[in-house]
Parts: sequence; structure tokens; C-alpha cells
Amino acid sequence: MSRFTDALNEQIAYEFGASQQYIAIAVHYDAQTLPQLAAHFYRQAVEERNHAMMMVQYLLDADDEVVIPAVEGPQVEFADVVAPVQLALDQEKRVTGQIQQLALTARAEGDLVGEQFLHWFLQEQREEVSSMSALLDVVSRSKDDVMQVEQFLARESGGENPLEAGAPPAAGGAL
Ligand SMILES: [Fe+2]
Ligand SMILES: [Fe+2]
Repeated sequence: MSRFTDALNEQIAYEFGASQQYIAIAVHYDAQTLPQLAAHFYRQAVEERNHAMMMVQYLLDADDEVVIPAVEGPQVEFADVVAPVQLALDQEKRVTGQIQQLALTARAEGDLVGEQFLHWFLQEQREEVSSMSALLDVVSRSKDDVMQVEQFLARESGGENPLEAGAPPAAGGAL
């Protein structure tokens, strides 16, 4: 296995881990009857799952070994309404670093096809860090009146992600 294939398999575990973490956050908000926050993170969880399956499809197409990983348990308890969003933003920033590192590994190995595959993920990370950071602003500002956050999400969410059109194919089809 090339170093890049190894690292991409590792990234599959991080993407599934991110998905699992977002499900935990969604359930946390759902249990407090905050349906918009819950729906936001249920959607994010599906996106992360799709990211993992895009990487699986890439490895299948490249005829490289695919290892479906065990996933690290998510954090399930949070101090307040802001904490899950802060955790989510930290996670997105960490993933941005991981994807950057992957692209550098592909480049170092002269794997231009692998490097090109990651370009979409780099754009996607830029979008996700930006939107999670906006949500953190809103939740921090309205932490004492969380229905304001619910109204904000009801108003602002549901817009199509323009990046979806150019997304790489996901194994079994994107959900
Ligand atoms: Fe992701
Ligand atoms: Fe993400």
C-alpha cells in the first residue's frame, strides 16, 4: 500500500467518526426539542458519511485496498448549547488540516490523480469551516434565547450546496 492509500484509508475512519459525532450532536439537540439544530446536524452527519463513501469509491476505482474501519466513540455530553457547535467547528478545522496533509502526501508521491481527487474536499472544507463558524456566532450570541437560533436556521438553511454538483461519486450512491 502506498503512503497515500494508507492515509486515505485512515481518513475514511475520520470521516465516519465525524459522521458519528454529528449524529451524537443531533440527538443531543433533538432530546431538548430543538428540531432545527437537530436537523442541521443530522444532515451534516449524512454529508460526512458521503465523504467517507466517496473515498471508498476512489479506492475501489483505483483498485487499491479499502479497509472499512472501526469508529471512535463520539462525545455525547455537552456543557451548554454552544459546546456542540464549538466541537463541530474544531472538528472541521482538524479535518481541513488532515485533507491538506493528504494532498501533500499525494503530491510528494507524484500521485497527481490522488491530489486532484482531494481538490473538491479542500473546497468543501473551506465551506464547512465557514458555515460552522457562522453558526457558532449565531449560537454564541443567542445562547440565552436558543429559539432565536431555531428561527435563524428555519430561515437560512435548506439552500443547496453548490459544491454538491461537482462532488466525486460515492460508493453505493450518495445519500
Ligand atoms: Fe468530511
Ligand atoms: Fe465536514
